[in-house]
Amino acid sequence: MSSIEENVQNIWNSNQLLLGVPLIDIQHLWLIVIISQLNHLLEESVSENFELDNQIGAVLNYIDVHFKTEEEILKKLNYPVLAVHASQHQEFVRHINQDLIAEHILDPRSLAKLMRDFLLKWLSSHINVEDKEYNYFIKGKNLDIHQISLELIKEKSIEFSEDQIYFYKKIIGDWII
Ligand SMILES: [Fe+2]
Ligand SMILES: [Fe+2]
Repeated sequence: MSSIEENVQNIWNSNQLLLGVPLIDIQHLWLIVIISQLNHLLEESVSENFELDNQIGAVLNYIDVHFKTEEEILKKLNYPVLAVHASQHQEFVRHINQDLIAEHILDPRSLAKLMRDFLLKWLSSHINVEDKEYNYFIKGKNLDIHQISLELIKEKSIEFSEDQIYFYKKIIGDWII
């Protein structure tokens, strides 16, 4: 296992983030991959600013895709507190844009560090709390989440990269979507 893979495995296990909704789990796991890659770049004193900028770009892209996916699926499920959940996503985006990027745009290393720390905190403050909350709702309603996920993937053309599937198989199990 590479050091990034080990790091991903450790963070995933210690935070107990598995929801059992493959469409969401694969994205949450991918967030940990992105954090680990960012961390790896920060630990290498030779990493260039453009590499950090690229990785910060990957974070921003991830956030956009993941929040859209999650809010769409919650909409399909008629999740009663979707507005509250979505407002937490909005606050997350606001913090990243206004408090981190706008303040530290000229210093990619500091920005990358702040982002890494904030994303790590998000695992326990949001994914492990609010995302688990909607998962209880799904389980309680006995909804066919697999079928609902498939519909959403088709409607919104949600894609998964080879690397995302690789990590899912390695850390979570068979990829059945
Ligand atoms: Fe999430
Ligand atoms: Fe969420």
